[in-house]
Amino acid sequence: MMIDQYHKYGEALLRQLPKGVFITVKGKDTVNTMTIAWGHIGVIWGKPMFIAYVRYSRFTYDVLLQAKDYTINVPVEQDLREALKIAGTESGRDIDKFKKAGLTLVSGRKVESPIIKECKLNYECAKVYQQTMEPALIDQTITERYYPNHDTHIMFFGEIVDAYMSEE
Ligand SMILES: Cc1cc2nc3c(=O)[nH]c(=O)nc-3n(C[C@H](O)[C@H](O)[C@H](O)COP(=O)(O)O)c2cc1C
Repeated sequence: MMIDQYHKYGEALLRQLPKGVFITVKGKDTVNTMTIAWGHIGVIWGKPMFIAYVRYSRFTYDVLLQAKDYTINVPVEQDLREALKIAGTESGRDIDKFKKAGLTLVSGRKVESPIIKECKLNYECAKVYQQTMEPALIDQTITERYYPNHDTHIMFFGEIVDAYMSEE
């Protein structure tokens, strides 16, 4: 698939992103999902890329460290607001969020992390790089608002190895 094929759902992703999408990741012994509203898609190293921003404090961060890949699961016409709220407020350290939010895991096509059946649009991403924010370089007003406790975001760069709408 060419880069523009992977990016043909970009508008659907970017419309939903500020309202929340899921990032689902399979670690050694666990699968977890959480809601994200920050991220971007683009082209890096000549590859289609998704970049997710995950704070150190998230259980998802711990699981991402063990994983080779992750998936981005986007509700397109579905109303998954309640599930996004659960995945965005509860922690996989304490509960099985898939069970509580009524989300069904199904195998992806190319990566080990599963996708979410209830989401029409799914991206499969292979982890290729991660980068921690440099606190000294963040604008002071942003630091005061977002990082008073130094819980900065780590950027997880995922090469998009597949992207598809479920009816296709
Ligand atoms: C709409 C919404 C968007 C969110 N976006 C992000 C995000 O981009 N990055 C992040 O680290 N946390 C984000 N969160 C917070 C996490 O989803 C939340 O802390 C979650 O409970 C972490 O779960 P975990 O401990 O199982 O990883 C968001 C929460 C909501 C409700």
